[in-house]
Amino acid sequence: MKDLSILIMAAGKGTRMVSDHAKVLHPVCGVPMLHLVYRAAAAVEPNEIIIVIGQDADLVRASMEDRPARFVLQERQLGTGHAVMAARPALEGRSGDLVVLYGDTPRLKGATLRKLAGRHRESGAATTLLTTRPENPFGYGRILRDADGSVARIVEERDATPDQRSIREINPGCYCFRIDSLLTALDRLSDHNSQGEYYLTDVIAIQRDAGLRVEALPHEDFDELLGINTRAELAEAARALRLQKNLELMAAGVTMIDPERTYVDLDVAVDKDVTLHPMVTLQGRTSIGEGSTVRSGCRIADSQVGPGVEVCDCCVIAGSIIGSGSTVGPFARLRDGSRVGSRCRVGNFVELKKAVLGDGSKAAHHAYLGDAEVGRNVNIGAGVITCNYDGFRKHATIIGDGAFIGTDSQLVAPVRIGEGAYVAAGSCITQDVPPGALAIARGRQVNKPGWVARRKETGGGG
Ligand code: UD1
Ligand code: CA
Repeated sequence: MKDLSILIMAAGKGTRMVSDHAKVLHPVCGVPMLHLVYRAAAAVEPNEIIIVIGQDADLVRASMEDRPARFVLQERQLGTGHAVMAARPALEGRSGDLVVLYGDTPRLKGATLRKLAGRHRESGAATTLLTTRPENPFGYGRILRDADGSVARIVEERDATPDQRSIREINPGCYCFRIDSLLTALDRLSDHNSQGEYYLTDVIAIQRDAGLRVEALPHEDFDELLGINTRAELAEAARALRLQKNLELMAAGVTMIDPERTYVDLDVAVDKDVTLHPMVTLQGRTSIGEGSTVRSGCRIADSQVGPGVEVCDCCVIAGSIIGSGSTVGPFARLRDGSRVGSRCRVGNFVELKKAVLGDGSKAAHHAYLGDAEVGRNVNIGAGVITCNYDGFRKHATIIGDGAFIGTDSQLVAPVRIGEGAYVAAGSCITQDVPPGALAIARGRQVNKPGWVARRKETGGGG
């Protein structure tokens, strides 16, 4: 939108969260609240997005990565009005309008902001603000109207009389201001209130007293405008967004056995004909390819899975890639950039760390493959372990295509097993094995006939 900028306040500590971390960085379905507000703002295509930072300023700024924004520092957090004052240098001399938002309203939609700005422009008011009517208005600023129905002022919960507290119409904190009249009003703010803060909400009364017009735009959906002050509200917002995400996925062809118990972060992609069982958690930048199944108790983070993959129960998969048609688990752990090819099998109690498995390879039971590069169609027997750490450094194990590693073998890295080579069960391999060779590295078995009977005769002696 032309001549429109958006300011998001994100400097507060969020005392009611009882947290060492800035409130706006608390994630909702895997995405920090501030980023969700930013997305809504960006959808309006304003000239500029200004973010007021203060508490954990460096972290908040860093979290925005390369999202375009101008950051303004509010060194001491003296209230929401004070936060906008901190942006004065960025606003001075500008014409046009400024939408002001709080960084703690993660369900806000871009369409709502467009509607707000559109109404503001139509009416020509100095300020237009959204209002809404929750069942329980506790904690919000109440909208006081004049006899003629126009908005007179906003009174904060803590400053309100019992009568005012019974008003259900509240201030959700989405305003569109004409920049020049906002700056004039900010100069008149005072901190004479129960919290000793400069309230942005006082701008309304100041403008009305100056004879300016303030418009209210009632918004039906209070839930969208929910402000997060406590962990309980955080959970409530997350639950709603999660259900919405799950409904979208189901509409796009994903089966969920129990959508109320399936935890999919907002930025996760799931293709059609995927089945997600209860108590599955998909996090970060994960994608699940068409026709895959993820069974109960799995957590998959920042990983690409499928298509046609079966992840059996209780797997933990992070930062990894699993190729088409492979089977993983139950009880497998894949981490740190592991890459499993197509048609592989990674079975129960197998751990992969920075391991690459070529197409068609199998590690079906109880194995640890760390810093390993495994070729195609390799068979890793039960209990095989790469000894990748010597107490100082990590070393690589390289296994050629078609090799067979017998059960309970240890491969002491750095070591290379040639293409098609065999390692006999129970071997401790410390030297490279040439292609096509059989390596046996274990004590030779000795059988002593009649030994047990003789031992009984001597009563255990000799
Ligand atoms: C505010 C409104 C209240 C409204 C409610 C809607 C004021 C005075 N009150 O109250 O009318 O009903 O939001 O959710 O505006 N922040 C700063 N710097 C500060 C203080 C706050 O950047 O000095 C930021 C916070 O990081 C937060 C946002 O402003 O993102 C809102 O602050 P918060 O303390 O949550 O305001 P509420 O008490 O909820
Ligand atoms: Ca709030």
